[in-house]
Amino acid sequence: MRRAIYPGSFDPVTFGHQDIIERSSAIFDELIVGVLNNSAKNSLFSLDERVSMLRELTKDIPNVKVDSFDGLLVDYMKTCGATIIVRGLRAVTDFEYELQIAQTNHVENPEVETVFLTTNLKYSYLSSSVVREFAAYGGDISKFVPAQFVDRIYGKSKIKK
Ligand code: PNS
Repeated sequence: MRRAIYPGSFDPVTFGHQDIIERSSAIFDELIVGVLNNSAKNSLFSLDERVSMLRELTKDIPNVKVDSFDGLLVDYMKTCGATIIVRGLRAVTDFEYELQIAQTNHVENPEVETVFLTTNLKYSYLSSSVVREFAAYGGDISKFVPAQFVDRIYGKSKIKK
């Protein structure tokens, strides 16, 4: 049984995340979408909101489970029995940071492997921070996030003039 984890902040979830979830859930027996409870980060959505949006989004994919974690990812992976980390790579600019995290996690626990999926070209420019910025200025975010979340994101954003 290959249990993988796709960790992230998902603040908010984007089409890029959705694409990685769909593709990686087809590769592994079970995929846990692990939402980081990062109290230091000023999140747009609370942890519970991010978890419930992801559950809504993945409700029809039977081998996907959404959970939250805090602390070190490698520690959480021991508790949930996952040994593979999935991360999306959008461009070479992601690579340095992702390589460092992957290698650190592997040193912490040599049983942990990181697998990178290249982001679909359609979404290679996309990030949660871009979505937050566009929403804050009242820009059109319908090309960035699933339709059911658009109004929730505008509702959370303080429209800047
Ligand atoms: O969506 P993000 O913010 O790019 O995801 C980053 C994430 C959650 C994968 C990373 O920050 C993480 O794993 N944090 C948990 C703490 C941890 O294990 N840090 C060690 C990495 S060197």
